[in-house]
Amino acid sequence: MQLLIDDANIVEIKKLAAFMPIDGVTTNPSILAKNGKAPFSVLREIRDFLGEKAMLHVQAVAADAEGIVEDAHRIQRELGENTYIKIPVVDEGLKAIKMLKKEGANITATAIYTQMQAFLAGKAGADYAAPYVNRIDNLGADGIRTAKAIHDIFKKNHLHTEVLAASFKNSQQVLALCEYGVGAATVGPSVLRGLLKNDSVAAAVKAFTDDFENLCGSGATMA
Ligand code: E4P
Repeated sequence: MQLLIDDANIVEIKKLAAFMPIDGVTTNPSILAKNGKAPFSVLREIRDFLGEKAMLHVQAVAADAEGIVEDAHRIQRELGENTYIKIPVVDEGLKAIKMLKKEGANITATAIYTQMQAFLAGKAGADYAAPYVNRIDNLGADGIRTAKAIHDIFKKNHLHTEVLAASFKNSQQVLALCEYGVGAATVGPSVLRGLLKNDSVAAAVKAFTDDFENLCGSGATMA
């Protein structure tokens, strides 16, 4: 499963990428708004930091298909090849996905709450489809079940689209989809940090350090 950071704060992204084995960064208009800076200056900074090998997913905001295509062209121009255009799966979005796939654009179908949205996005040629796990849970449905079902739909229908699961509230949700083998998950900073947080592990590592320092002196290492 690929792992991405769902954030636009460059300081946070740099801190997390220093130790987390990440494959890229995703943003959405709300994340950019929370960051409060001019969108393209922030996005260029993220791209410069990531380099060309990591994916950057950026959402088009126009309401109609032609506008979404124009948004996509600017995003591609500014941010380079390994950039995925996130497009909400509504009528105009689906139309834009079909138009942009003819040009060979990288597409992430987003705002996915149902299996049928994902199936249609896959048929239209999307590379990734992003079910919103926690938001689906909040509607009284089952976000993990939906994400797994979408993964199965892609495989059974021989579509090349991968799940890029999004909107996580806790580690357990991420683990469930990792165990299932979905293509990717994008996770916000606090949940991402939580993936590695474990008091028992921290205590075990401290005991090793204490024992070694008792043997060899304070601050001693193997070097
Ligand atoms: C990613 O594609 C989504 O925009 C994002 O993960 C939504 O997350 P949220 O439900 O925490 O806002």
